[in-house]
Amino acid sequence: MLNPISYKDNKIIILDQTKIPNDETYIEIDSIQRLYEAIKKLQIRGAPLLGIAAAYGIRLSSVLNINKNTDDYKKSLLKDIVLLKSSRPTAVNLFNVLDNTENIIKSHDDKFRIHESLVALAVHEEDKSMCDRIADNGVTLIKENAKILTHCNTGVLATGGIGTALGIIYRSFWEGKNPNVYVGETRPLLQGARLTAFELASEGINVHVLPDSARAYIMKDKNIDIVITGADRIAMNGDTANKIGTFDTAINAKYFNIPFYIAAPTSTFDKNASDMSDIPIEQRAPEELYKIGYQGLIKTKTDFINPAFDITPNELITGIITEKGIILPPYEKNIPDYI
Ligand code: MRU
Repeated sequence: MLNPISYKDNKIIILDQTKIPNDETYIEIDSIQRLYEAIKKLQIRGAPLLGIAAAYGIRLSSVLNINKNTDDYKKSLLKDIVLLKSSRPTAVNLFNVLDNTENIIKSHDDKFRIHESLVALAVHEEDKSMCDRIADNGVTLIKENAKILTHCNTGVLATGGIGTALGIIYRSFWEGKNPNVYVGETRPLLQGARLTAFELASEGINVHVLPDSARAYIMKDKNIDIVITGADRIAMNGDTANKIGTFDTAINAKYFNIPFYIAAPTSTFDKNASDMSDIPIEQRAPEELYKIGYQGLIKTKTDFINPAFDITPNELITGIITEKGIILPPYEKNIPDYI
């Protein structure tokens, strides 16, 4: 399996996901500015993986600044935290990790003690193990020969392990359940067609890519059994931000009475968000839209709207599969027992 991120010799090594599936190119990151740019360009992406990148980023920042006096060392690290927080607004994993590192920096006076604590952070290992436990819990929902619909990419390329929704799919395949997986191409950046199809096909899993706009048709035509997607941020009432297109997938699933599940580690919950109104949605550059087949329109006054995420209201979600178990409605009451 691919390794989307590692930390070696005081460098962060990332797989450039903008080049998948055509090339497997690794980039060595040796500054926080470069990490910030890689996150913005989606060379590294996926909510849990962004949390891991943030943890390695602050570890790198500590190495780069350790020869400064303690005051300047702390100031430099806090400045890098601010920069990384400004990269992408929706995936809360990044913010949860950076808030934690900020607390470590502010609560100690000795720079070497801070450095040790930052090096000891095990965000990557913890995420890997959470993926395995999400798969343990989620696979119980998958029947033999299941037709599973998913969206975007939630696998090895989005996490520190086998993935969230895709981790469940991998596990069901390894257990001999013979899943068939249907994934929307995920316009405009094609995470479904480029990344999910690549991951699943490489493992020998039957994967079918469809236009995002074909989801309702496919749900009916193929008799989809279950929908499972990932999450970028989950509010305390269960409202869930995920890749644009997830909300209308959930509405379609409801229409056809297909169970719609979110799979996510508890690090994707935002304790400060009581509902969807507290979740910021990233708006991305219009070029991402019109560079795919619309070049002619750029000369007109056409407006392009490019939200990267949408929010699925809790009433459309059958359950939230976490490493601690499957959370069922009513979410306001049940989520606090799990996080
Ligand atoms: O813009 P991206 O590619 O970072 O969006 C990723 C998603 O929306 C994923 O579904 C989500 O981060 C969950 S990854 C386990």
